Amino acid sequence: MKNINEFQKYKNDNKPISVITCYDYWSAKIVNETDIDAVLVGDSAAMVMHGYGTTVNADMQMMVYHIEAVKKGIKNKLVIGDMPFLSFRKSLIETMNNVEQFMKAGSDAVKIEGANGNLEYIKHIVDSGVPVMGHLGLTPQSVHQLGGYKVQAKDKITADKLKINAKKLEEAGCFSIVLELIPAELAKEVTDGLTIPTIGIGAGKFTSGQVLVLQDMLGMNIEFNPKFLRKYLNGFELIKVALNSFNNDVKNKNFPNIDESF
Ligand code: KIV
Repeated sequence: MKNINEFQKYKNDNKPISVITCYDYWSAKIVNETDIDAVLVGDSAAMVMHGYGTTVNADMQMMVYHIEAVKKGIKNKLVIGDMPFLSFRKSLIETMNNVEQFMKAGSDAVKIEGANGNLEYIKHIVDSGVPVMGHLGLTPQSVHQLGGYKVQAKDKITADKLKINAKKLEEAGCFSIVLELIPAELAKEVTDGLTIPTIGIGAGKFTSGQVLVLQDMLGMNIEFNPKFLRKYLNGFELIKVALNSFNNDVKNKNFPNIDESF
């Protein structure tokens, strides 16, 4: 998938959209060879790649560096850059300078968390020719306000607010909305009520597509086991075994052998 028109076509054709996060060149080269539709350079990079406890530590410099690396490995997929904490809140000028940096680094679109206070900026970004993906439900940059990583919009009042915000994001021009950690039935209602596609993470199976964090679905973090996560590989164990094999070969003087020497 190369552009946002195809994103919309997938929803119109009732064809699920697959999105994966990616932060670096070598994994981008692997993702590029898959059938996955789009790539999100998520601000989860702060946690996954840099070991911070929240995404609040992601900043423009960090995100631009990751977008540039991913772009070098992704040839034919939509690359969405995740605007970091407060990078779209301080002023329109600063927001647009940040959007410009993202696009020049190789983003094809930007993602912005939340609706309240962002709608005018989103409209301006879209009117400036830059596709915007929204993000509702658990918005990790607001983790301190939300009081932790927990399922959002469980009661009628908050569910209704989320539905209204989804509509507002669509009206502001978003081409798609991530729905994170909300009840599956609510995600279905939001998806059915919108023209644009929704991409779920921990939001059940009724969204227009799904996104997972690459390292999470590869099983790289044995301590991260939320209910919504399906691990497709035991990456941590496999890599550990490979590293120990190398270590053993070195210790036993089995590496390098004749064929591996000049
Ligand atoms: O930063 C990220 O990885 C995200 C996804 C979880 C949607 O925002």
